[in-house]
Amino acid sequence: SSSRTYFIGGNWKCNLNRKEVIDLCKGLASTDTSKVEVLVAPVALHLALASELLSKTKIHVSSQNVSATQKGAYTGEIAPDQLVDYDIKWSIIGHSERRSIYHETDAVVQAKVKNALKHGLSVKFFIFIIVCLGETKAERDAKKVQEVCLGQLKAIVGGIEKNQWDQVVIAYEPVWAIGTGDVCGAKEAQEVCQLLRFAKILYYVCSNINFLKDNVSGPVANATRILYGGSVKADNALELIQQPDIDGFLVGGASLKVDSFGGIIKACQ
Ligand code: G3P
Repeated sequence: SSSRTYFIGGNWKCNLNRKEVIDLCKGLASTDTSKVEVLVAPVALHLALASELLSKTKIHVSSQNVSATQKGAYTGEIAPDQLVDYDIKWSIIGHSERRSIYHETDAVVQAKVKNALKHGLSVKFFIFIIVCLGETKAERDAKKVQEVCLGQLKAIVGGIEKNQWDQVVIAYEPVWAIGTGDVCGAKEAQEVCQLLRFAKILYYVCSNINFLKDNVSGPVANATRILYGGSVKADNALELIQQPDIDGFLVGGASLKVDSFGGIIKACQ
């Protein structure tokens, strides 16, 4: 992972009030993020506030979700160009909580990926995305990790044009490790992240194009950041980040406090 810049995302989920957002952003603004890329994802209501508070830093502000449609009669949705209009250039897509609680299928995730990456005439409507995937405990026990993760990856890849990969970060979040304190072992996490990186070349991208040109996708596989998510803390971050195919983290609980999120950032610097 030496050529890829480490990426640490804080997914605040449906947490924090206005004052807590202000305090956390102030703390993050004075955290050293010089060698890494850092992102925070507040609830939609706090996006503009967080963006304003972090405007003098290089920390990205991201939505936690985005509409599969453009503007229109879609109650409760936020369209990509509305995010861009507020200078929010990132969105998380396909988080396991969206998939399980709000029934987002692979087809919905793919539609959101497509819509987010699609742009009009102007380059300023680009947004960048972190797309999540991962297996449940039952699927892991049934030895279906590869099948499930590659199936989800296939749907994601189907929504991305070849020239859009520099707008994409992948997050591997095993569902059983999310919010449980039960972190995935570094070796197991590395195994899946490596699988995702190479599957992208060997199976999916290339099977849709001329097989002889498969090396054309080599740069994409090498450049795409693959994050691990699920009970990451300052004290387990170091072992995970040392794995060759893990390029950073998507952090839930530990991203809500400056100390713990700062500790994870420090482990990656
Ligand atoms: O998106 C990050 C997340 O799902 C992991 O949550 O609380 O286990 O770090 P947590």
